[in-house]
This record gives sequence, structure tokens and C-alpha cells, in this order.
Amino acid sequence: MNIRLFKPSLTELELSNVKDAFDRSWIGLGPKVNEFEQKWAEWVGAEIAIGLNSATAALHLALRVFGFQKGKKVLVPSMTFSATASAVLYNDLIPVFVDSDFETLGMSLEDLDRKYDKDCVAVIPVHYCGHPVAMEKLVPWARERNLKIIEDCAHTTGSNYKVKNLGTWGDIGCFSFEEKKCLTTGDGGMMVTNDPELFKDVKAMRWVGIDKDNWKTAQAYTEVNKDAYHWFYELNVLGWKYNMNDLAASIGLAQLERLPQMNKRRSEIINKYMEGIRDLKTISPLLPYEPDKYVYQMFGIRAEKKEDLIIYLKSKGIATGCHYTPLTFQPLFKPYASPCPVAEKEYYKMITLPLHVDLTNFEVDYILENLEKFENE
Ligand SMILES: Cc1ncc(COP(=O)(O)O)c(C=O)c1O
Repeated sequence: MNIRLFKPSLTELELSNVKDAFDRSWIGLGPKVNEFEQKWAEWVGAEIAIGLNSATAALHLALRVFGFQKGKKVLVPSMTFSATASAVLYNDLIPVFVDSDFETLGMSLEDLDRKYDKDCVAVIPVHYCGHPVAMEKLVPWARERNLKIIEDCAHTTGSNYKVKNLGTWGDIGCFSFEEKKCLTTGDGGMMVTNDPELFKDVKAMRWVGIDKDNWKTAQAYTEVNKDAYHWFYELNVLGWKYNMNDLAASIGLAQLERLPQMNKRRSEIINKYMEGIRDLKTISPLLPYEPDKYVYQMFGIRAEKKEDLIIYLKSKGIATGCHYTPLTFQPLFKPYASPCPVAEKEYYKMITLPLHVDLTNFEVDYILENLEKFENE
């Protein structure tokens, strides 16, 4: 047995879309990015979506559009991937680390309130593993304090939560299409909003400051445009090289077609895991998973003997992970660390188990059998 922790699910559909891009011989920023953006906006229920090369880029630009004064503070969870907090540093802002809720391991709203001060300008809730942060409470709390809200949706694909889809509760939602995520383009990301004014410069910011459509310019060489200035562009804002390209978008469009089926399979696997570990004494689910309601990118457990179990599963050919080492433990973020006791304690129990669309029932049963054997040894 050799069971991978994560694995992208790729089929002939993705391959044939990539082949079409090859046949058109347009693989940079182009019409497929536009098409994917429109379909993603529709899927998420947002007015605008902009395609990028990663969620890291999305988080960077999401903070950047507000033009916050250098040195202001942004509230981020400690239990997240580095990108959530690195984006704060990219913008010359200060991350304020918020502890996790014990049950969901998402941002604790009590600790959020404790850590807030007048220098805070924004909050970045992360829907950890795909489990929704209580946005119906966080949003009014943040609005009262005039904070901007950027949702880090790297672990979900736009689940419906109460009255809205995740990614549309705050000002901006950021999604990841990196290879381990619910939908992948190899590397990629999308930022979405329902406030077009906020995104007026984002197309230029993601493509070296140019806000023209390159592929339309190429068409205009020979088509309607009769003047000599098809090549002209003006730089008005500082831009990065953060754009999605047509190869990635071609894969993304195929993945989006398959997404409802892929999400269904993820939910089936989580239901099977939950059923299988229900009676174990030393192992429990990481979160109060609700796989019939929400889309989860990761499945994890809390185990009393974390390290022994990881080694045991390794010996059985089962890959595991740990998401995440609290950022307050990371040397890079130590200078900004503040107490996050729940995240820092639960970290010593957390194990991520394999979850991907092509994982078979036979493999899940094998993992469950081994969890049981370990507990009984
Ligand atoms: C919570 C979270 N935010 C942001 C990112 C960054 O995503 P990307 O790899 O697309 O830049 C990740 C990636 O794993 C993540 O888990």
C-alpha cells in the first residue's frame, strides 16, 4: 500500500482542454482566463472574479487594494498556512495572531475581540479545512469596528453557509487552485468581490500594471483597429506578475465542470471516516465536520499519541500530515506572536489523513482498520 495524503484528480477532460489551448497556441493570459473568471464568479455567486497564479497573490492584492497606512494591524488566525500572514507582511502591515475556537479550530471570536485594538484595519478569517467561520457573527462585529474583511477560502470551493456562499460574506474572497486543493489548476487562485469599485485596478495590479487584454490587442493587429497604436498602454498603478494563464484556466474549466461530482466524493469519504472512528477512544475527528453541508479540503483527527500514530501509519504505507504548526511557533512570525493557547495545545494532537477524490473505499477501510489496530495494540 502507498496511500497519498493529497492527489489531484485529473482526467481526459482536463487533457483535452489543454490540447485545445495548444491547438490555439495561446497559453498566456488570454480568453480562457476570462471564461474561467466568469464561470467562477457565477459558481461562487460574486459579481467579479479575477484569475491569479495563487491564493498567496490574491491575499497580497486583496489587502493592497485598500491602501492601508504602513504599520497598521491585521487580525489573522494562528492556525493557518503561512500565506495568510505573509500577505500582511508583503503590505508592510503587522499581523495580530488570533487563537482558535476549541471545537472548529477556526478563528475564536472571543480571542478576536480580545486582540482587537484601534490600529487594526482588517481581519482575515480562514475557513479552516473548509469548515465555515461563524460569519453571521464576525461580519457585524468587524463592521462595527470599521474593519475590512478578507475571507481566505483556500480550503473550500464556495460552500453555501446560512444565507450566502463562503467568499461573499466579506469584502473580498480569496481561493486557491494549488495542486492539493478541491479544484486545481496546478497552481492558481481567484479573488472575488461584489464591489466592482474595489477591483478597478486589480487587473493592472495582477499583470505588471497593464490593464489591457493582451489577446484582444493581438487580434486588433489585423482586425477593426485601423490606427497605428494597438501596441500602446499606460502604466498607472504598480503591478505584479500574478496573472493566471490560459493553460491553467483550461484545466480549471474542466475541473469546474467536474466539481460537483468531486465535492460529492469528498463528502462521501468524510462520512465514511466519521462513521469509522466514531467508537475509537483515543482518536476523534479534528472538527465537527458536516460533509453534507460544506465542502472540505482536508480531513483530520485529534490523537492522544500523535507521533506514534504517524509512525505506525507510515509503516503501513499511509501518508499523513499536520496542518498546521501554529504560525506563532514559526521563527518568521515570532516577533509578532501573542498567546494562542488553544492552537498551540491542540497542535500536539493534530494529524491530517488522506483525502482526495480518487481515494477508494478500499483504501479508506484500510486506513480505518489501521487506526483501530493502533488503538488496540
Ligand atoms: C489557508 C491557506 N491560505 C492560502 C494558501 C495559499 O494558496 P496558494 O498555494 O494558492 O498560494 C493556502 C495554501 O495551502 C492555504 O492553505
